[in-house]
Amino acid sequence: MLRDTLQTLLSCYGPSGHEHAVADKLRELLEGHVDSLKTDVMGNLIAEKFGTDADAKTVMLSAHMDHIGLVVTDIEKEGFLRVAAVGGVPPQMARSRKVVFKNGTLGACMLQPDTKGEGKAEIHHLFIDIGAESREEAEKQVQIGDVAVYAPDFVPLGRHRVASPAMDDRCACALLCELMTYAEGQKNHLVAVFSAQEEVGLRGAGVAAFNAEPDVGLSLDVTAWGDTPETKLPAIKLGAGPAVKIMDRSVIASPLVRDRLFEAAEAAGITVQREVLAYGGNDAGAIQTSRGGVPAGTLSIPCRYVHSSLEVIDMRDMEGALKVLLQFVDLV
Ligand code: CO
Ligand code: ZN
Repeated sequence: MLRDTLQTLLSCYGPSGHEHAVADKLRELLEGHVDSLKTDVMGNLIAEKFGTDADAKTVMLSAHMDHIGLVVTDIEKEGFLRVAAVGGVPPQMARSRKVVFKNGTLGACMLQPDTKGEGKAEIHHLFIDIGAESREEAEKQVQIGDVAVYAPDFVPLGRHRVASPAMDDRCACALLCELMTYAEGQKNHLVAVFSAQEEVGLRGAGVAAFNAEPDVGLSLDVTAWGDTPETKLPAIKLGAGPAVKIMDRSVIASPLVRDRLFEAAEAAGITVQREVLAYGGNDAGAIQTSRGGVPAGTLSIPCRYVHSSLEVIDMRDMEGALKVLLQFVDLV
């Protein structure tokens, strides 16, 4: 079940560069359902399902396992931790949050008062209180270089929605995991890449695409929202269907992939939205520019409050996306 898979994957610790726990869980879920499973140097988990066609195309699908975090840069003598961002962490969204380190150490992430009149909250104004009373005590639990993430959560909202940290991009990992489990007798060769280090610059997907040499690439990721108070762009609504990306800051979708997605949606009877994002990037940017170039695009899951500790998606968009994907993999 999509929802169960999602909940399982959301519970894993996995900031950029530390995706192992997510990969291990996915490996467990995929074992026996795919033809091959391997991990590469970057920490990408790669699952393959062979196609039935003699001239099958290789379709690479990616979903990133990592999410944003806060890396410890310094420990103050009073025991407070200073941090820098791993990926895009808006200080306003990280303030007053419960955070957790890989070893289970919990912390309260706080923003110091603006006594210098600096106006804008910056990442160096954040600190984490782990309850230590001195640097020595803190160092028994946390070292410089350790990474904290928003503590896992799973908050059902209304009938169809769920809020959680790491929804970006575990919701797409769940989707890709289900696709690989249920795709059966498809003509094309599927290479599912559960990618590492997307949030710090699409690093895992680039390496995976170079190795896989796909004929077509499709990234699965969340996109932003324009349907809450005072937020109008992008023109994307939760629950109105998955979105076909036209462009963002990392990629202009290849017409071939974009159009096949629209056709797949039509064949599946699913309404899709058209997405133009004036900021942000996704794995498709790295796949498209791999080697001599790969036609690439993105199917997005609308997500509110991206990079906060309560990223909200609508399960109807997820179910729609799965149906579109099952059509897409054989349309290219
Ligand atoms: Co992100
Ligand atoms: Zn993402």
